[in-house]
Amino acid sequence: MAGDNAGFDSNCMTLTRFVLAEQRKVPQATGDLTQLLVSIQTAVKAVSSAVRKAGIAKLFGIAGSTNVQGEEVKKLDVLSNEMFINMLSSSFTTCVLVSEENEQAIIVEAEKQGKYIVCFDPLDGSSNIDCLVSIGSIFSIYRRPDGTSPVSEKDALQSGRQLVAAGYALYGSATMMVLALGRGSGVNGFMLDPAIGEFILTDPNIRLPSKGKIYSINEGYTHLWDPAIREYVDRKKDPKFGKPYGARYVGSMVADVHRTLKYGGIFMYPATKDSPKGKLRLLYEGVPMAYLVEEAGGLASDGSRAVLDVIPTSIHQRCPIFLGSSQDVKEVLDLIQKHAK
Ligand code: F6P
Repeated sequence: MAGDNAGFDSNCMTLTRFVLAEQRKVPQATGDLTQLLVSIQTAVKAVSSAVRKAGIAKLFGIAGSTNVQGEEVKKLDVLSNEMFINMLSSSFTTCVLVSEENEQAIIVEAEKQGKYIVCFDPLDGSSNIDCLVSIGSIFSIYRRPDGTSPVSEKDALQSGRQLVAAGYALYGSATMMVLALGRGSGVNGFMLDPAIGEFILTDPNIRLPSKGKIYSINEGYTHLWDPAIREYVDRKKDPKFGKPYGARYVGSMVADVHRTLKYGGIFMYPATKDSPKGKLRLLYEGVPMAYLVEEAGGLASDGSRAVLDVIPTSIHQRCPIFLGSSQDVKEVLDLIQKHAK
């Protein structure tokens, strides 16, 4: 029974407790995924603490330089990457790690290898780090394909339909982890309670409304868009097509997707004349977010097919993204088709 005493819930649902309960539903589960998620939680807590202290740390030296004690002050994205790599590779559950920060995949030492492959962006939203706007970490977890020995970077090139789990951490006005653990498991949000250092279930079973009221895209690139995208965005602002939508664009994918999951609407990072594949990376931005959005009842497309159906050919490949409420995403896809004729 949940007990509430002076603001303390003596029976709160922590993220680890939630994952343990989910693990129980799979009779053949070994506990490895639970252990892996514990190591990701630890990395996220460490990154969250580093993000919250970033401004103070600067008093002792500019990030990326040397402080008064002559110690190196690491840039937050470098530090976050090290935290993720160290926690994941020492968890005895992973074999290949793909990080946004490393050109090549990291192959975990043979004696520490486990059955999972993790692709991650340790600190996404880099342009927002120095001005205290929300940033995040994103991750996707795959199983090592059967019969590949030794493991290699190629083992990470699986479609999003093979995902075991995916999630993100948002370092916003609070720190939150949002997670989907397998198809049909739903999307759940856990807020970090700094008093006890645990993630607590605060947003169970997040569902996207089928239509929203917000569009989110970097409109500074209008001159570089295809006519279909221009027509769609014009419609969202034109009362002739219904009540105009509100515009929101943080410029940190995690924050923009989190808002879309919570409030509905659409987030887009389309191809442009300069970047024919868009900017966002398939393995650790597009796929994990598409997985969460589909699990929450929405749609995620690259403009012609579901993001989860794209078969990757290289670990850092890019992919145009249209994700959010199903009716909103369908509307832009219809316009893309109309213009393709
Ligand atoms: O990929 C990094 C990233 O910072 C995303 O988090 C974000 O959605 C996007 O780039 C913002 O890009 P732009 O500044 O071109 O709008």
